[in-house]
Amino acid sequence: MTHQRIAVVTGAASGIGKACAERLAADGWHVVCADIQLEAARVVAGQIGGTARQLDVTDEAATEALAEDLWSALGPVSACVACAGVLQPWDRPHELDMKVFDRVLDVDFRGVFLTAKAFGTRMAQGDGGALVLISSCAAFRSTPLHAYGPAKAAVVALTETLAAEWGRSGVRVNGVAPAYTLTEVIEKQAREGMRDLSTFGADLLIGRAIRPAEIAAPVSFLLSGGASAITGITLPVDGGLLASGVWASYGGIRPAYAPVD
Ligand SMILES: NC(=O)c1ccc[n+]([C@@H]2O[C@H](COP(=O)([O-])OP(=O)(O)OC[C@H]3O[C@@H](n4cnc5c(N)ncnc54)[C@H](O)[C@@H]3O)[C@@H](O)[C@H]2O)c1
Repeated sequence: MTHQRIAVVTGAASGIGKACAERLAADGWHVVCADIQLEAARVVAGQIGGTARQLDVTDEAATEALAEDLWSALGPVSACVACAGVLQPWDRPHELDMKVFDRVLDVDFRGVFLTAKAFGTRMAQGDGGALVLISSCAAFRSTPLHAYGPAKAAVVALTETLAAEWGRSGVRVNGVAPAYTLTEVIEKQAREGMRDLSTFGADLLIGRAIRPAEIAAPVSFLLSGGASAITGITLPVDGGLLASGVWASYGGIRPAYAPVD
């Protein structure tokens, strides 16, 4: 048993999940880094004084067993970030391998449900808590990601259904929807010539890609007492992507003002 409050982060071995694990540890949580990549999760857990566990979020029995084990080994878990996710190639519908389609829905939607079910139910039956489900701005705007976008939109809907399910039991459920965030998977796509990182800033009002720590900060807030009246929302952390609208047809987003002497 630990005297620290316990938080679980899925997908904590890399990218946004890793940044969330680091931020929550800095906030004082004992963080359980759960990931399909155990060795990488161990490295992160070692750096933040947390615990690493191997988990495939698509495996219902394993997800339930992890929750059961943590409750008895460490004590009640009162925060959970469902961040594990996979991307997809942007093939046209007739070219999209249905095995890829199924895997994306399995990890990005069903896996989020299984994570929330295992941890949220135990919180609701016990001392309460808070969950953050990681969605994406691909839930709100059209992209050529015909499995990923709908899976992330399903996570937005799930955030509302579970918030209503557990609200009276002291469990808050919120979502965070990132836009272009510079993580390992995106950098790998850039190295392989699939993404041009220089285009990222063009769509975002902040003029640059988002850093993983800038997603972890609002996740930390939504799990904190400061967000005690917030549940059922999905917060876009998008650098202004959703507000950039149709400015391209009016000459584009305004450049910065010239410095005044
Ligand atoms: N990077 C972005 O621009 C961006 C934008 C919007 C949303 N997101 C979402 O943020 C989350 C994290 O993305 P990221 O960019 O940090 O990716 P990433 O690939 O760097 O990290 C994803 C992590 O999830 C783990 N994972 C994958 N499948 C798993 C499974 N079945 N069970 C357990 N762990 C599994 C991976 O091992 C990895 O550690 C994802 O849900 C992603 O969809 C990312």
